[in-house]
Amino acid sequence: MKILVTGGLGFIGSHTVVELQNEGFEVVAIDNLSNSSIEVLDGIEKITGKKPIFENIDLRDKSAVQNFFKKHSDVLGVIHFAASKAVGESVENPLLYYENNINSLVYLLQELTILPQANFIFSSSCTVYGQAEKMPITEDASVQPANSPYGNTKQIGEEIIIDVAKVSNINAVLLRYFNPIGAHSSAEIGELPIGIPQNLVPFITQTAFGLRKELSVYGNDYPTLDGTCIRDYIHVVDLAKAHVVALQRLLKKQNPEKVETFNLGTGKGSSVLEVINAFEKVSGQKLPYKIVGRREGDVISAYANTDKANEVLGWKAELSLEDGLASAWKWEQKIRS
Ligand code: WQD
Repeated sequence: MKILVTGGLGFIGSHTVVELQNEGFEVVAIDNLSNSSIEVLDGIEKITGKKPIFENIDLRDKSAVQNFFKKHSDVLGVIHFAASKAVGESVENPLLYYENNINSLVYLLQELTILPQANFIFSSSCTVYGQAEKMPITEDASVQPANSPYGNTKQIGEEIIIDVAKVSNINAVLLRYFNPIGAHSSAEIGELPIGIPQNLVPFITQTAFGLRKELSVYGNDYPTLDGTCIRDYIHVVDLAKAHVVALQRLLKKQNPEKVETFNLGTGKGSSVLEVINAFEKVSGQKLPYKIVGRREGDVISAYANTDKANEVLGWKAELSLEDGLASAWKWEQKIRS
């Protein structure tokens, strides 16, 4: 069975390609290499022994998307990761985000509605909840007005899929990620942030390696136990496995509704200082950091209620924060060696 993974050479995409291949799927990966590198194909092959079919396509090119589906009309499902995802960049350059994240989705869906089977897994984000009132966050928590164009493209994307599924053969699962971290245990694939990392864990591992002088902790005056923000850090391999489970649910037509939504997290919240302490434990290294002012747009706390994913989807995160940090550290050391 052939599955398309868009953004298949990216951080979460490449880990999902590995898990799909482990389950015996044939994978075709689309990537425009704007935030990934072609060497990721070799990393995947080193892990599974199989190199996915690769198409260097920019999904903003409508005719390229149409030609892709003419060539690969036997695709039975699509897992859609390809999107721009830097919150801060989206504030500076909203049109880049609306063009890339929305146009690409529309062109993909237009082609999918023509396929005999159209199973669609959408990469969404807990950012749609904004600062949810109640922790842990359930899927029926209200979607708040987005606090960045990036977050808005996730909300709009979900709404587009819901509207299209109503009048087409598309069945979809919206997966709202919390904070993906870590790397495959082989250290053959992992996160490759370009430039100064925006996210906490890659900044920590680069600091530990000596590429950054120290970590800036964005505020310790929040109403939390130690004053720093709380997040749900989920291992990227657990996250990848959830995509395979969601796809198999659609392929086996186990979905009672045309569009289903699941929060993907560990269900455990960790503060920034707790992440730092955990990293120091797993790495055996002291991490230099300083407390600075708050970052615009940060929510105080966000961690998942995982009941629906556990009981309905039949998936549960198995790896811990420490596993994620240890694998991220192993990966950082590998790519710098
Ligand atoms: C985590 C915590 C920061 C960096 C974003 C997107 C989300 C998803 C994941 C794409 C926060 C603190 C961070 C640093 C710090 N992106 N921090 N110093 O903002 O929760 O989520 O990335 O899918 O959609 O919203 O993740 O890793 O940036 O921050 O103190 O140098 O670490 O304040 O509390 P975030 P993050």
